[in-house]
Amino acid sequence: MVEAGPGLSSRKCLRVEVGRVSTSRKGGRRAMEVRASSSSNGGKKSSRSIETRLVHLSEKLDDPFDSVAPPLYQTATFNQPGATDFGAYDYSRSGNPTRTLLENQMADIESADRAFAFASGMAAIATVMRLVKPGECVLAGNDIYGGTQRFLGKIAPAKQGLEVKHVDMTNIDEVKAALADAEGPKIKLVLVESPTNPRLEVCDIAAISRIAKDHGAIVCVDNSIMAPIFQRPIDLGADISMTSATKFIAGHSDVTGGILSVVGKDLCEEIYFHQNAEGNMMSPFECWLSLRGLKTMALRMEKQAANAERIAAYLQSHPLVTKVNYAGLADHPGSGIHASQASSGGSIISFETGSVEVSRRIVEDTKLFKITVSFGSVTSLISMPCYMSHASVPAEIRKERGLVDDLVRISAGIESIDDLIADLEEAFASAEAALGGRTTMSTTM
Ligand SMILES: Cc1ncc(COP(=O)(O)O)c(C=O)c1O
Repeated sequence: MVEAGPGLSSRKCLRVEVGRVSTSRKGGRRAMEVRASSSSNGGKKSSRSIETRLVHLSEKLDDPFDSVAPPLYQTATFNQPGATDFGAYDYSRSGNPTRTLLENQMADIESADRAFAFASGMAAIATVMRLVKPGECVLAGNDIYGGTQRFLGKIAPAKQGLEVKHVDMTNIDEVKAALADAEGPKIKLVLVESPTNPRLEVCDIAAISRIAKDHGAIVCVDNSIMAPIFQRPIDLGADISMTSATKFIAGHSDVTGGILSVVGKDLCEEIYFHQNAEGNMMSPFECWLSLRGLKTMALRMEKQAANAERIAAYLQSHPLVTKVNYAGLADHPGSGIHASQASSGGSIISFETGSVEVSRRIVEDTKLFKITVSFGSVTSLISMPCYMSHASVPAEIRKERGLVDDLVRISAGIESIDDLIADLEEAFASAEAALGGRTTMSTTM
């Protein structure tokens, strides 16, 4: 059984035991649904820091060679001990030892009862939506990832019969009012992003979790921007912490995946039921790459955040920049709340120039920042969310929410900060030259 992580001492530990190969052809199946053992963790707390626990897996497989890198079980199915004895693993959709290692590692660092690895962050979010029944309501923020908005706008209501309500989640009174609204549909799920993508707004995870619990709603925090290195939503009271593994967990732009870390036996069982029934799990190889990514996640994220701080300061001082959004800035409106729930400003920054054309030139003229829809890679990345990651959000909704077309999002990588600033400097100079003395440029592209 996995060693308990901090925060687990008062809870039943429900994690999956890593399968042991049965040599006998006798015995009944421990179905995956019941492989979540309900044994107590014995009140044991790991005294080791998260950095150490990331490098040293919380548990090992029964590996005769004791390999340092975890074994990759690239198999769809397993030879059963007998026709009625399914063994520890029978089919990789239901469970795979490499996936179990990743899931237990994530549960360990997030203080969760269990974690579940999915084919993408969106597959993980879609599974969370399965917790809501037709007629029940999902409460979400106004500034959210474009793919989540697409799901909430086009799939949840029309295809699943869910109600969806948006509020300004940075405003706790709006959250309170929505949950207390006796006239409206019952809010079953509160979906929180903090900091938000792409405007890096900060929501009070602990306060939202408390209010939601009072009203019997489940809280899921999309923690993709902070990842469990900088922010651990379960410790703040959330029921589910969702992280797109595509970003910081894998960290090298070579994996697509998503993780749900979950608290509570019933929720764990329901999520596992859907993962198995719908087959949206992460593949063994992606799990193996994610396990490798986890080992360096703390190191990468600290360097990326240090680079982001310098880039944010540079942007704040540049005359072409009209607004900088970075959760680590002292003058960020949510800086106090962010500091109380996260240990770093992270490595994602967005900024406005007031001109789509200026922004486009900056984005296209950088050499070290790759133009991509994603973030969280060792490589620095740059994008224009309204034309890329958030293009699926209807223009009128973007306008209503103040998501401006000239917004640029940066994901700082691990390169030398001097090189990154020099690269930005050249791109800004080129935009300035193109401006040719005018103070504004066309706002369309
Ligand atoms: C905040 C946030 N949540 C969820 C997702 C979805 O993750 P994935 O692309 O792995 O499906 C993304 C993707 O960019 C994201 O930015």
